[in-house]
Amino acid sequence: MDKIDHYAVYGNPVKHSKSPQIHAAFAEQTGQQLHYRAHKVELGRFAEVATQFFEHGGKGLNITVPFKLDAFEFADQLSGRARRAGAVNTLAIQEDGTIYGDNTDGVGLVRDIHDNLGWDMQDRRILVLGAGGAVRGILGPLLKQGPSHVLIANRTEEKAQKLAQQFEKLGKIAGGSYAELASAQFDLIINGTSASMSGDLPPLPSHILSNDGCAYDMMYGAAPTPFMRWAAGETAWAVSDGLGMLVEQAAESFCIWRGVRPDTKPVIELIRQSLSA
Ligand code: ATR
Repeated sequence: MDKIDHYAVYGNPVKHSKSPQIHAAFAEQTGQQLHYRAHKVELGRFAEVATQFFEHGGKGLNITVPFKLDAFEFADQLSGRARRAGAVNTLAIQEDGTIYGDNTDGVGLVRDIHDNLGWDMQDRRILVLGAGGAVRGILGPLLKQGPSHVLIANRTEEKAQKLAQQFEKLGKIAGGSYAELASAQFDLIINGTSASMSGDLPPLPSHILSNDGCAYDMMYGAAPTPFMRWAAGETAWAVSDGLGMLVEQAAESFCIWRGVRPDTKPVIELIRQSLSA
């Protein structure tokens, strides 16, 4: 490879990834010389392709669906938050040639909700929808914000219960089914299911959101997701999609690789504009 440092995002599919655009904007803003591309990796070939990338001088990788577990296994060392999440979205080669694995998804979500949107999570009742890989990455940083409690609701109840058990040392957390939500109320609902991708909405009862309640969908798109539209109909105090989370997790990865923290606000705006273009 040439003198410019090389980075990439590995996923399947990866064609619509915004990460190359985000990291190019970060690089320009901070005056860093780097090259970042999206690469589709065939299923079952993650370790082989990642090994080649680092052997050829590559500096760091972002990992997206469905390889976060492969990346977790691939890393030589893990951050505490990656170990707790059981998933890695950022790999970085270290000076001794070993590979460091981290997970920046949760901190990305918390930064977007707390710093960008200004929603307080302390002593709040939080409902998390879904119990898949996306949710696993956010629970640790979420519990660190000191919510009064977190409930994970999932179609497959056992998955929610198992996940909650894995995080119960970090705060008050439980898992259950959607049926259990009938008379409950929450101050913040985070949609971590993939339902929005198929235009679906998890089965939520009316009045589950408190008067000053907020709703956050970890998905994003040019138009509001079904979950966001539902929340607006419930007269949520505020509603957001997950574009800010995407940019914030990228900023944390960039900081791990380059030691410089980019300003995320103009980049969130840039990507927002490109979505509606
Ligand atoms: P990811 O890694 O993106 O989280 P995943 O592991 O396949 O993907 O998990 C997807 C999550 O969305 C799961 O919690 C799934 O519920 P189940 O565990 O019961 O399958 C949830 N999900 C997907 N489509 C959904 C829908 N239409 N309604 C409600 N939940 C849905």
